[in-house]
Amino acid sequence: MCGIVGYIGENKKAVPFLLQGLEKLEYRGYDSSGIAVLNQNEIKIVKKQGRLKVIKDILGSKDDLHSNLGIGHTRWATHGDPSDVNAHPHLSKSGKIAVVHNGIIENYINLKKTLSKKGYEFKSDTDTEVVAQLLDSLYEGNMLGTIKKATDLLEGSFALGIICTDYPDTLFAVKKDSPLIIGVGEDENFIASDIPAVLSKTRKICRLKEKQIAVLTSKNIDIFDFSGGKAKMEISEINWNVDAAEKNNYDHFMIKEIMEQPKVLNDTISPRLKDYSIKLDNLNFTEEYLKNLNKISIVACGSAYHVGCVAKYFMEELIRKPVEVELASEFRYRSPIVDKNTLVIIISQSGETADSLAALREAKKLGARVLSVVNVVGSSIANESDDVLYTWAGPEIAVATTKAYSTQLSLMYLIALYISKVLGTITDEKYKNLIENIKLLPEKITGILKKASSTEEIAKKYYQTEKIFFIGRTLDYAVCMEGSLKLKEISYIHSEAYAAGELKHGTISLIDNKTLVIALATQDKLFDKTISNIREVKSRGATILLITTEDKADKISDIADDVIYIPKISNILSPSLAVIPMQLLSYYIAKFRGCDIDKPRNLAKSVTVE
Ligand code: AGP
Repeated sequence: MCGIVGYIGENKKAVPFLLQGLEKLEYRGYDSSGIAVLNQNEIKIVKKQGRLKVIKDILGSKDDLHSNLGIGHTRWATHGDPSDVNAHPHLSKSGKIAVVHNGIIENYINLKKTLSKKGYEFKSDTDTEVVAQLLDSLYEGNMLGTIKKATDLLEGSFALGIICTDYPDTLFAVKKDSPLIIGVGEDENFIASDIPAVLSKTRKICRLKEKQIAVLTSKNIDIFDFSGGKAKMEISEINWNVDAAEKNNYDHFMIKEIMEQPKVLNDTISPRLKDYSIKLDNLNFTEEYLKNLNKISIVACGSAYHVGCVAKYFMEELIRKPVEVELASEFRYRSPIVDKNTLVIIISQSGETADSLAALREAKKLGARVLSVVNVVGSSIANESDDVLYTWAGPEIAVATTKAYSTQLSLMYLIALYISKVLGTITDEKYKNLIENIKLLPEKITGILKKASSTEEIAKKYYQTEKIFFIGRTLDYAVCMEGSLKLKEISYIHSEAYAAGELKHGTISLIDNKTLVIALATQDKLFDKTISNIREVKSRGATILLITTEDKADKISDIADDVIYIPKISNILSPSLAVIPMQLLSYYIAKFRGCDIDKPRNLAKSVTVE
């Protein structure tokens, strides 16, 4: 996601507002930023790669950019590496129109081809520049009409801020799928991606609704729907403080990011699924390459490694080739058996984890092709991989990852299905069923999040426990690894994930009446086995919290002290749902323990050193 701001006023205060507004939105994206203002009937643009400070320093030395009208942007790259030329705003060919954008234009490649045939040239790799040139190609003097025509042609999500030299007193804004608010001032009005940007100026805001266009002057605001009909402006009074506003009034970034998962999962999955065909961006594994693969080696750290542990199970089931998962810090020092017939998949949110980057380089040295699954566009791991698939989770601020984990996992499902389809190791029926179920993940996660308060109640019962085990079998065991790490990271309670069938080989000696065992049982074929393991630990005094699917309700009798139900879905996809109550449980337990949830002790968001 990115941060957008816009200003129209009577007192030539555009630049100061744009800069302070962008400062408040840097949590939304910060790999580059820029502003465009109308000055002496010309659009002046200052935009640079790097943090906002870079353009603030440039603007600080200029005093000729006084303006009544302007737009600004702080970028979280999705299409096109962070660079000066890819930074927003983007200027149209005529120089008359400048645009800032938050979202993903899914049909930008086709639009770019059409515009190129009309003689348009593109300086950047972004989808946003396509919007600027599209507006340019449609513009015949009526900006509102031009915008309406453009919205008919654009597919995907877009919050837009637009200025035009023919409209020196008017700021235009468009909202579809990505958030955009209006700040209502005195002789000045504002637009922004989020409330923090305008709070220093006004607490009167209007949240643009889906498919609306706003036309703002310093004294007036009109809102239209995409078909041109006038819409009523609903103004609300914001009583948040600025700090709370950056978290969208959530207490922590972590819970905000947990709640963002349905949206970012949809952002990551839907552009890659057209009906039943999977389009993994520019990835092109030939049948010959895949048939010659001797194995896939997934290498990562922490939660990204846990994604690999889950992926191993379903990838091997679907593609019928060996899938190894390894900690990057081990892989890089053990002379791994990797060659040109090994596909190495590096998973990393930051794309800067030192061990994972070193493992990537080791794998390439050994001749392997490297595919990376990364959240930060243009990061080192992304740049050094042969192929990269981006998770579109947006900036993840909390140290404990949640939405990046979920979007990484969703991409691994798509990769596994894509490979199994090319190799012919999956029946059409199973393939279609899994695609249909993957499309249901966002709404099923929404259903789980709606019951977050019941998980909070359970957390309240157990937040003082000092000894916790997470147990499960196969895919459930792999999800338990992530549940255990989440809990350790932010609540500082020692916990351990254990294969349920392995407990009796020694570790069960630790189970006593002070132990909480969180058991995960989503895999139909192993449900009874896991129930037996629960009985084993219960008979030794453990307290049981069971996480299972709704269809098992009549099978568990009184075996658990507490139960969290998750929706039924294809067994292979259950991890995407099962991890959500584990994230929530860890969050609420840490909250009851008064921990510093977003910045846990001893931890960094990205471990760029060994
Ligand atoms: C997860 O909550 C932790 N923050 C940590 O384990 C993290 O997953 C690990 O350091 C890997 O980071 P990366 O995904 O940026 O490579």
